Amino acid sequence: MADSGTSSGPELLVELDRDSKVPLHRQLADGLRDAIRSGRLAPASRMPSTRVLSADLGVSRRLVVEAYGHLTAEGFLHSGQGGSTRVAAVDAAPCRSSGPDRVRPRFDIDFAPGSPDLASFPRQAWLRAMRQGLAEIESSAFGYSAPHGLPAARSAVADYLRRTRGVVADPRHIVLCSGATQAVALLARCLDGPIAAENPGFWLHRMILRHNGIEPVPIPVDANGIDVAALAACDATAVLTTPAHQSPTGVVLSAVRRTALLEWAQPGRLIIEDDYDAEYRYDRAPVGALQGVAPDRVVYLGSTSKTLAPGLRIGWMVLPAHLVQRVRTAKSLADTGSSVMDQIAFAQFLTSGGYDRHLRQMRRRYPARRAALLAALSRHLPQAEVLGAAAGVHLTVRFPEGFPLEELTRRAAESRIRLESLGPCYADPATAPPGLILGYANLTEDQIATGVQMLGQAAHELGAA
Ligand SMILES: Cc1ncc(COP(=O)(O)O)c(C=O)c1O
Repeated sequence: MADSGTSSGPELLVELDRDSKVPLHRQLADGLRDAIRSGRLAPASRMPSTRVLSADLGVSRRLVVEAYGHLTAEGFLHSGQGGSTRVAAVDAAPCRSSGPDRVRPRFDIDFAPGSPDLASFPRQAWLRAMRQGLAEIESSAFGYSAPHGLPAARSAVADYLRRTRGVVADPRHIVLCSGATQAVALLARCLDGPIAAENPGFWLHRMILRHNGIEPVPIPVDANGIDVAALAACDATAVLTTPAHQSPTGVVLSAVRRTALLEWAQPGRLIIEDDYDAEYRYDRAPVGALQGVAPDRVVYLGSTSKTLAPGLRIGWMVLPAHLVQRVRTAKSLADTGSSVMDQIAFAQFLTSGGYDRHLRQMRRRYPARRAALLAALSRHLPQAEVLGAAAGVHLTVRFPEGFPLEELTRRAAESRIRLESLGPCYADPATAPPGLILGYANLTEDQIATGVQMLGQAAHELGAA
C-alpha cells in the first residue's frame, strides 16, 4: 500500500485492547472501519502515515500496513496524491457532519440595530496587528496569568479611552471582558443593593440582570435622557445608563441632568455608564464620558462591537478602585480571562493607529447611510417621527398610536426585511408606543432605499399611509 511514511496526518482515536484474543491488526481495522462508517473520518480526509500511527498506538508499523491493506481491499481507504492514504466515499451514518455550519442571513435587508458595517472589518490590518503582536509578546502571556487582561492590552485601552473619551483610565482599574454584555453580568454578581435601568433601555441588559436574579428598577427617559428625579425617588444604589446616546431613544443626556446624575451618585451609589456607540457623533463633537468627572463613582463600559464587529467579543470596564478586586475575581471565576490572541491583536491595532484609522473611515461612511435612511423615511414613511441625536449606528422612529406596526413587521419579514420594534426595550412591553429601531450602518444606501420603499408600500396597503 502506498504510504510516504513521512507525513504526520491527523490524530485518531482508536482503542486497542491488548488483552483481547482478537489480533491487534483486526482491532485496528475494525476501529478505523467504524470511524469511517460513523462519519468520524470524513470522505477524502487524509489518514495518518503508517509510521506516525504505529508510533501513536505503540504497535509495529507492519501491523498498521496490514490494517490499511485490509481497508483498502474493502474499499474504505484508497491511495491519494503523493502516496498518502485517504478515506474513500462510503455511505456513512447520518450523524456525519454535512459540512460547515454556515451563518446564512435570513433577511435580504436587515434593519436590526447594533451592527457596524461588517463587510468593512479591517481583515488585513487585523492580521498585521496579530502578526506583529505575536512576534513581540513574551511566552508567559499564553498562560493563565491575567484573567483581567494582558497588561499591554489594558494599557492600550487606557491610552485610547483617555485620549478619545476623557476617561480617567488607570490600566490597573481596567478589566477586559467579553463585550459590555459580560461586563453587565459580572457587575450584577458583584454589586449589592437594587440596580436601576433606563426604561426604555437595552433589552439584553435587562435580561442579563434578570438572569442574575436582579429585577432592575425601571427609570423613565425623556427628551433630556434619564429622569434623575425618578431615580432619586427609588431605593436603587446603582443605575445602568447610556448618557452619550440613550439606547434606544438616541437622546443625549442634557447638561443639567448630567450634573444631577453625578450629584445623585453619592458615596455608596454607583453609575454604570454604558458608552456603547459614543465613537459616532455626526453633528458635533461628542460629549466626554461621565466617568472622567467622577471616576470613583462611575463604572465605565465599552466594547468593539459598534466599531469593529460584535463577533470579536472584546470589551472593557474601567472600575472605581473599591470594585477592582471583586470584579477581577468574578471575571476569573466566569472564564479565567478573555482570549489572549484577541487582546494581543487589539493592543497592537490600537497602538499602531489602526483603530483610529478604521474609525475615521467609518465616521465618513455612516452619515451617508443615515442620510439615506432619513430621506427614504420622509419620502415613503412620513408618519415616522425620528427621535434622538445624529449619532451611532441606528436611529429610532415612533409612529402615531394605532399604526399597524405588528402587521407591517410581519409583512416585512415575508419580504425578507427584518425590523426590530421598540417593544422589548420597555420593562413592560405592553406600554411601548409603536416604534422601530432601525440599524443603518450595516446596509448600503441602495438597500436602505429599497427597504424603506417596500415598507412604505406595505404601510400604504395596510391603510396607514
Ligand atoms: C446599549 C448597548 N450597550 C452595549 C452594546 C454592546 O454589547 P456588547 O459589547 O456585549 O456587544 C449594545 C449592542 O447592541 C447596546 O445596544
